[in-house]
Amino acid sequence: MTVTHWPLFQLRVRTPRLELRLPTIEELDALAQLSTEGVHDPDQMPFAVPWTDQPPAERARGLMQFHWRQMANWTPQDWNLQLGVFLDDHIVGVQGIIARDFMILREVGTGSWLGQRYQSQGIGTEMRAAALELAFSGLGAESAVTAALSDNTASNTVSRKLGYQPNGMVRTRVRDTLGYEQRFKLDRDRWQQHRTVSVQIGGLELCLPHFGL
Ligand SMILES: CC(C)(COP(=O)(O)OP(=O)(O)OC[C@H]1O[C@@H](n2cnc3c(N)ncnc32)[C@H](O)[C@@H]1OP(=O)(O)O)[C@@H](O)C(=O)NCCC(=O)NCCS
Repeated sequence: MTVTHWPLFQLRVRTPRLELRLPTIEELDALAQLSTEGVHDPDQMPFAVPWTDQPPAERARGLMQFHWRQMANWTPQDWNLQLGVFLDDHIVGVQGIIARDFMILREVGTGSWLGQRYQSQGIGTEMRAAALELAFSGLGAESAVTAALSDNTASNTVSRKLGYQPNGMVRTRVRDTLGYEQRFKLDRDRWQQHRTVSVQIGGLELCLPHFGL
């Protein structure tokens, strides 16, 4: 079935191992299930909104609603693209790309997670590289920002490997305690120097108005 009025469903970003695209309802359901099987060690909380502390059924339902809410609230001035990450046709996580007033600011933010059993195999690096290629080459971004708690070694290692530079540390709430969030920024020139993953983008042209372009 071809969806003509929401061309974002045709968008494909491919790396040697992965495909990033919007999930179908069934695939979103599988992603929700994956989220109940573990995203991180329970004694840690990598997310600013502690959604993984919810009981499994609520967490899964909330994940699906979050995904639909981003599409329902989508405007060219304020968008949040939650791409499913597929490995061998199975959904293994999410790579988000977010922007406000992109047509003027030319800056995107990113956020991501993988099911715990898919972590530490280089997938997080490959999917972030895919998002960055979509942003810089596909959409003409000038800058990308991201952030993670200072002790989130995996996320911060991915950022540094892809060329991001530290951009300040801020105090943040982690559950009921004080944490420190490390912010990063990557400009277009540094991205050109650090793009090592080959990425193919398909179906973008019809989506450009959705991104304010
Ligand atoms: C963050 C996340 C998406 C990264 O994906 P990933 O597939 O695990 O990351 P990769 O395997 O591509 O790379 C992780 C890097 O961190 C390194 N790393 C991970 N844990 C480490 C540790 N405890 N000490 C030292 N290095 C560590 C790995 O060695 C790897 O570096 P390398 O490629 O140079 O060897 C994934 O770990 C995840 O979903 N974590 C839980 C949710 C989360 O934290 N999301 C981000 C919130 S800001």
